[in-house]
Amino acid sequence: MSANSPLCLSGKGVTKTFGTGVKAVTAVDHVDFEFREGELVSIVGESGSGKTTLSKMLLGLINVSEGELLFQGKPRDISTARKKREYWKGIQAIFQDPFSSFNVFNKIDTVLLDCINMRGGRRLSRQKKFEMMDEACSFVNLKFAELTNKYPFELSGGQMQRLMIARIFLLKPKILLADEPTSMIDACSRATILDMLLNLRNEIGMTIIFITHDIGLAYYISDSVYIMEHGKFVESGTADEVILHPKAAYTKRLIADVPKIYEPWDLSTV
Ligand SMILES: Nc1ncnc2c1ncn2[C@@H]1O[C@H](COP(=O)(O)OP(=O)(O)OP(=O)(O)O)[C@@H](O)[C@H]1O
Ligand SMILES: [Mg+2]
Repeated sequence: MSANSPLCLSGKGVTKTFGTGVKAVTAVDHVDFEFREGELVSIVGESGSGKTTLSKMLLGLINVSEGELLFQGKPRDISTARKKREYWKGIQAIFQDPFSSFNVFNKIDTVLLDCINMRGGRRLSRQKKFEMMDEACSFVNLKFAELTNKYPFELSGGQMQRLMIARIFLLKPKILLADEPTSMIDACSRATILDMLLNLRNEIGMTIIFITHDIGLAYYISDSVYIMEHGKFVESGTADEVILHPKAAYTKRLIADVPKIYEPWDLSTV
């Protein structure tokens, strides 16, 4: 990834207002951004700052109230169901709650087969499809043979998270949006999941948009960081610029909340 990589997703003045009149809430307020191919971007902000609302607009799950979104340099057009389906081949998401991401009535085989079909693999042989599902499961350290004929709700939280990543492995989207995918699992699986996401980025060169409260984590994994407060981006830049040399008071406060964000721990003084 470099500052010269082509633009993958960008926005100008992107705004979302819920409700009208005195009850109107502007959850996302005229944000500008440029996400490049292969880049890992973090969007950091406190609860209620508008991160999920922005994600939903990026995914095309809710309308943009104002502003413009460009996908691969062209205005994004999701005006018909067909165009929307086409767009969703390019952008995929993993959410805070993996249990909400699957149709619980579909067996895991179906979940994975749908991914292969979506990528145009409908006519592949049974054997080939099986190999692809097996490979995707191995990538996330799951055994396909043990999952076949199970339903998503029969998996543990960590297994579900990994199944979501196996889906992404098969779908190979241009952009992966990850809204706090690690918040509900323990620190050890958190590191494993992050590691898998980073491997996947290297493998298929996708852009990752990572949404988090955790500015320390954002620093370690990101190329670029956008800091969000009350629906606005108060600061953005490379991870080093934003976190080692913050300008906005809000960024400084977020950093102050995390002890020793980038200095090595000095245990000798404890
Ligand atoms: N459908 C909706 N209708 C009305 N207001 C909404 C709706 N969705 C979100 N909001 C409001 O928009 C603001 C931003 O919410 P959002 O969920 O985007 O925050 P967030 O940054 O994702 O927070 P968290 O870190 O807790 O997930 C909040 O004030 C929220 O109450
Ligand atoms: Mg949220």
